[in-house]
Amino acid sequence: MYKKISLTVLTCILIGYSQIIIGQSKIEIELTAAENAPTISKHIYGHFAEHLGRCIYEGFYVGENSTIPNSEGVRIDIINALKELQIPNLRWPGGCFADTYHWMDGIGDLKERPTIVNTWWGGVTEDNSFGTHNFLNLCEELGAEPYLSGNVGSGGVQELADWVQYTNFKGKSPMSDLRRENGREEPWGVKYWGVGNEAWGCGGNMRPEYYADIYKKYVTFMSDADVEGGIYKIASGASNDDYNWTEVLMKNIPKNMLQGVALHHYSVIDWGAKGPDVNFDEETYFKTMKESWLMEELIVKHTAIMDKYDEEKKVDLIVDEWGGWYEVAEGTNPGFLYQQNTMRDAMIAGMNLNIFNNHADRVKMANLAQAVNVLQAVILTDKEKMILTPTYHVMNMYKVHQDATLIPLSFESPMYTYKEESLPALTVSASKDENEKTHISFTNIDTKKGSTVSIDLNELGLKNITGSILSSQNLQDHNTFENPDKIVPKEFKDFKFKKGMLEVTIPPFSVIVLEGSK
Ligand code: AHR
Repeated sequence: MYKKISLTVLTCILIGYSQIIIGQSKIEIELTAAENAPTISKHIYGHFAEHLGRCIYEGFYVGENSTIPNSEGVRIDIINALKELQIPNLRWPGGCFADTYHWMDGIGDLKERPTIVNTWWGGVTEDNSFGTHNFLNLCEELGAEPYLSGNVGSGGVQELADWVQYTNFKGKSPMSDLRRENGREEPWGVKYWGVGNEAWGCGGNMRPEYYADIYKKYVTFMSDADVEGGIYKIASGASNDDYNWTEVLMKNIPKNMLQGVALHHYSVIDWGAKGPDVNFDEETYFKTMKESWLMEELIVKHTAIMDKYDEEKKVDLIVDEWGGWYEVAEGTNPGFLYQQNTMRDAMIAGMNLNIFNNHADRVKMANLAQAVNVLQAVILTDKEKMILTPTYHVMNMYKVHQDATLIPLSFESPMYTYKEESLPALTVSASKDENEKTHISFTNIDTKKGSTVSIDLNELGLKNITGSILSSQNLQDHNTFENPDKIVPKEFKDFKFKKGMLEVTIPPFSVIVLEGSK
């Protein structure tokens, strides 16, 4: 069993592509025994699809009569891209939209469905043509677990209880009969249920004490029948550093009623001036990275509160909204939250996924906001065209950590300094999968400095190392519909591996994943 990895960070400045080493720090890293290390839940690699802007309509869903190839109205190119990503779960229908959504409006004959005005996002009128059957069938096709957000803010207890029965009940009941009438014999067996969303804000502007009571009332009527191990209920959680919210929920909700507590944190620099999606300067980039790095502190502090009430870690921390949030792309509807996705987003993704992996003992699910055409999307569409963003490629490179055993490691990161302030430049996480393959992912957010990292891998008994890298000339670089493959992962060979010692040269603003096999 491995015990120790030693990691040396050699800091270097890149001038063009030629490196000059100007400093060095050497760190010994202790590894805990593998049998105590947690599994990195695949659900950390989850996604989110809200009725917002062009995420569902004109994104996922083009309708069965579209000339764009589709399966039950959902674009086949999107289905294939998400299958490749092995997305483990998909959260729907919101977000803020969830607390306005009445699921019964989205089932049955299309012509009979009432419309709904999307009051949170652009005030557009939707025809409810994408509903429960479309979403759950899509998840089945993707091999992803659906995560449904129930309407607590403007819905009712019975309405949510009925949704659970409609989707999950095998036997005869008013709701399961209705499901059958609508063409679906077998229940979908939906395990993950959010009980409202952002109850402190768009979900009802509640106090945590009031929400904790409401939560208990709702979940009392959500049946566990027909889902192995019962359904998994997630309480609407804190915004950022609202530690009191987590404290009140943990104190007031009995553990047998609560499987997960949510946390939302976006990498946004200022809600009043979010900065441009592409033409940002280094100051804005640094601020975004600072907000992104805050995720580490938030997880540590929310976890400490949860530990107070739940030493055994029975309740999970669910980061069901995270990602970069900027001003919308020029010329697009401000209510639609469409933004381009640059190498800055790749940095956010690589850093946050490393943070989540390293906190895999408490963080069991995370959902990037959002999958298609909204905020830090993995996919962008323009009519029949579709592109994969740098964030998509990071998630694709990191998917090797899904359900693998964490290899805990510690090291002192070199610092990324801008003016008077500094942030850790390098985040790293490592895991071993069921085929005994080791994966190490590195994200270096520094704009100018590279790092040379040495790792003693002798204890892992690895014979062969391969790697891939995502990097680009400029931080603002991105894929476009005209040039969709400007940023794609490339083979990475800038490492030496001799007698179990690995030395990796990591360029500025790059993401690298190495695979070691025996
Ligand atoms: O993801 C966009 C919005 O951000 C969600 O609807 C809401 O939950 C959050 O405020």
